[in-house]
Amino acid sequence: PEADNLFLLEDFEHWASQVLSKTAWAYYRSAADEERTFHENRDAFRRYFFRPRILCGAAEGSLETSIIGIQSSMPLFISPTAMARLGHPLGEVNLTRAASQYGVVQMISSNSSCTLEEIFDAREGDQPLMFQLASKFKCRVQLYLNRDRSASAALLKKVENLGAKAIVFTVDMAWDSKRTLDVRAKAGASMPSTIPHKKNGGGVAQAIGGYQDRNLTWKDISFIRRHTSLPIIVKGVQCIEDVQLCVDHGVEGVILASHNTKSAPLSRFSNHGGRQADYSPAPIDVLYEVRTLRPDLFEKIDIMIDGGIRCGADVVKALAMGAKAVGLGRPFLYANGTHGEEGVSRVLEILQEEITNTMRNIGVSRVEDLKPEMVGPAGPWIT
Ligand code: FNR
Repeated sequence: PEADNLFLLEDFEHWASQVLSKTAWAYYRSAADEERTFHENRDAFRRYFFRPRILCGAAEGSLETSIIGIQSSMPLFISPTAMARLGHPLGEVNLTRAASQYGVVQMISSNSSCTLEEIFDAREGDQPLMFQLASKFKCRVQLYLNRDRSASAALLKKVENLGAKAIVFTVDMAWDSKRTLDVRAKAGASMPSTIPHKKNGGGVAQAIGGYQDRNLTWKDISFIRRHTSLPIIVKGVQCIEDVQLCVDHGVEGVILASHNTKSAPLSRFSNHGGRQADYSPAPIDVLYEVRTLRPDLFEKIDIMIDGGIRCGADVVKALAMGAKAVGLGRPFLYANGTHGEEGVSRVLEILQEEITNTMRNIGVSRVEDLKPEMVGPAGPWIT
């Protein structure tokens, strides 16, 4: 069907499962081990409900917000995902063009299948792109550089010169994970030629995973800071203690001092879309925990989440709990695989409409008016 005749993000997922190559579907959809976290990311959203207000006169309104001071037309962004060309020949460039059309931030994976130049050239004007590092700078886009620290510094300079607006430092890939569907597909399918081969590889994830670093520590945040003037987003924080450590490192490191902004650094909750540690918590539950136990942290850093967001109501729930914005990964890959740029745009259009509808129906017209008391666990609120 035409993209315009798909109405839910799940519709794209359904069609992607039908039309993507077996390898692409397995890589995109796969999650770790028993996939408990993958399903929990989604299920957890369904345990929170709104507490709508009435007669609020929500005729005028806006979805505009900012993420670490960068303007965004909606409180969401495209999470960094590897290998968009497995789904469509134009790959990440389709995501860049759709992001431009809708005025949202795109995070560029260090395992992108287009070159950095292709992606940055596809930008419209000063369109905000952020660059994600999975490790101490051993990554696919860097294959032609030496894998040492000076090369790492060069890569950071390169993305800064290309015009990236922030460095996203992914920290929830401390070790390998077994991506179940991916390894199963590999057992019966061959690797596409664009992907580096490993003789006994376990699937796409393991084939591109050779660039990961296994010994990341808090010191690496300082290393990044020394080699870039861009803001840093830590991606994959999964408990309050680590949010506090992010704040501590920001304050004591260089981030507040070198950037002169109130809110940097910014930290995100993520569990890599259920692809790394199975039985790690759903991001929306971690967010609720922070909201309940440490509401002061929202004043100190921009907190965002990703994982399992599939509709506008999910976005609004996270925002009401205090998230600055949310990220989506698979939905954009699926839509890119089924309809290319048009599909990615349609996903953004659907989200825009759903977020607007949800906000207005609970009595809110602007993002900054969403409040914690508007959302909570299902069931009676009096305990
Ligand atoms: C990812 N993710 C990811 N994250 C990252 O920091 N660097 C990367 O290269 C990738 N690659 C990647 C590939 C694929 C196929 C998926 C599905 C995910 C994780 C991604 O940024 C994000 O955290 C999750 O996708 C969010 O979960 P949902 O929205 O897919 O449920």
